[in-house]
Amino acid sequence: MSQLSLDAVVRPHRITGPVCIRPAKASDVESLSIYFTGLSSMSRNRRFMGARADLAVVAAECVAMAGHPGHFTLLAELRQGGGPATIIGETRYAYDAAARCGDFAISVADMFQRKGIGLQMMNAMERQAGDLGHEMIAAETARANVEMRGLAKKAGYESSGLGDWFSVHLAKRLLR
Ligand SMILES: CC(C)(COP(=O)(O)OP(=O)(O)OC[C@H]1O[C@@H](n2cnc3c(N)ncnc32)[C@H](O)[C@@H]1OP(=O)(O)O)[C@@H](O)C(=O)NCCC(=O)NCCS
Repeated sequence: MSQLSLDAVVRPHRITGPVCIRPAKASDVESLSIYFTGLSSMSRNRRFMGARADLAVVAAECVAMAGHPGHFTLLAELRQGGGPATIIGETRYAYDAAARCGDFAISVADMFQRKGIGLQMMNAMERQAGDLGHEMIAAETARANVEMRGLAKKAGYESSGLGDWFSVHLAKRLLR
């Protein structure tokens, strides 16, 4: 992941201790799997747009995909009191060269939601995608997912009109 230089320390509101947003690496697979397992079933279902039981496989895929050009996974880690860092959020990004559009999925640990971490990760993801020369980012989420729709709206995404009765397709053009 040499092209990923991002390693941002942010201080979201209502969190004591710095949160580091950094690219995932091979040694993160187990911690990421534990993180996915710790999500509530609702958050997990929303993150994966359905139930997933093979979370170790999913975590391995997230990290393995990060080795492909135009793909990356960012982790938000809480660092407190010199103890081990804990993953409290992740976003996976994948670029489709044919469609000239990046696609992402994101989650934040339930007890850390609504503290600004999702928005910080979106900002970091967009900076990284912009650095890679990508101009368009999109995501799909359930119409019922008010949290994701609220986050996307705040980050400047709009409905592309490509959704259906169940899901909404959100897109944003990156400024260059
Ligand atoms: C969607 C999700 C990633 C948001 O992350 P988050 O860290 O809680 O979001 P933030 O705290 O950065 O919120 C940013 C904005 O999003 C909107 N938002 C977030 N949660 C919201 C909620 N419960 N209701 C309404 N708006 C909400 C608000 O506009 C918020 O800004 P504000 O707090 O200043 O009002 C998180 O709720 C989550 O992990 N959900 C489960 C997984 C998921 O649904 N993933 C999306 C599928 S890809």
